Amino acid sequence: MFKINNLTLPDVGFGTYKVDEQEIILNAIKSGYIYFDTASFYGNENILAKAISQSGLKRSDFIIASKLWRDEMGYDNAIQAVNKSLNNLNIDYIDIYFIHWPSQDDKLNIDTWRGLEACHKSGKIKALGLSNFLPHHTEPLLKNILTRFGILPAIAQLEFHPGYTQECAVRYFSEHNMLVQAWSPLGRGRVVNDELILSLANKYHVSPQQICLKFALQKGVMPLAKSSSPERMRENLDLNNFKLSHEDMLRIDTMPPLGWSGLHPDRERVNI
Ligand SMILES: NC(=O)c1ccc[n+]([C@@H]2O[C@H](COP(=O)([O-])OP(=O)(O)OC[C@H]3O[C@@H](n4cnc5c(N)ncnc54)[C@H](OP(=O)(O)O)[C@@H]3O)[C@@H](O)[C@H]2O)c1
Repeated sequence: MFKINNLTLPDVGFGTYKVDEQEIILNAIKSGYIYFDTASFYGNENILAKAISQSGLKRSDFIIASKLWRDEMGYDNAIQAVNKSLNNLNIDYIDIYFIHWPSQDDKLNIDTWRGLEACHKSGKIKALGLSNFLPHHTEPLLKNILTRFGILPAIAQLEFHPGYTQECAVRYFSEHNMLVQAWSPLGRGRVVNDELILSLANKYHVSPQQICLKFALQKGVMPLAKSSSPERMRENLDLNNFKLSHEDMLRIDTMPPLGWSGLHPDRERVNI
């Protein structure tokens, strides 16, 4: 469990990138997920809304996170993006709202943030987050927020999995009291056939995916895992019956680079 502001977050959140069926979200709810990560870019906020409504559970039983896209940056655009997400999600507040990718223009990041702060002040968002920001994007934003006594980011979402752990960024965000979340914590399948991960799965009698998720948790990072199968959804929540030893954590920490998506906020996408 993780605590940010007044929110308590579960160990594992459900990722919805490329999820286009209500049934998948309903299965995730039945499997025990309460945290859902979506984004305006994913085009599935309305599917999440329908599944939540069909589940029969209360709005307050869920933690919903969404994000504004690159073309929704700027003060007015950010406010519009939040209103659009609220409308798509059919709810009157969003628990956590992220800027999906930083701009290279610090002023644009700051203006966007100020738009999100306005939404926070009017109760439309409970906590704010940065996605794919690195320390050098965050530093000017934090300086500006502090001079205005504005609202500090509570969460940083990054690509994080064995073989790509962005140590410097994770340390920076932790030192600035931000919870770090892992996107693609399984490396979207690019990591789970690695010999070290396979040998640890064998040693601990769990799946390679469970090794990846437990590694994130033991690093203090909250993983957001996506699956379309109920069995795998449940497996990804079943992480309490084993603990990676200190040496095995160090082995994963120092394994060769692996499974990078090819995405970096300052570069054109690299096709791996
Ligand atoms: N902020 C950002 O820029 C950003 C970028 C990318 C992703 N994200 C978020 O992070 C979430 C997770 O990342 P992701 O979807 O890229 O990848 P991921 O969760 O690392 O991997 C998903 C893949 O792993 C498979 N899988 C899941 N659990 C499994 C298990 N127990 N055994 C075997 N295979 C398993 C899934 O297949 P099946 O579906 O067939 O089970 C799917 O192909 C996204 O959905 C999204 O919410 C954010």
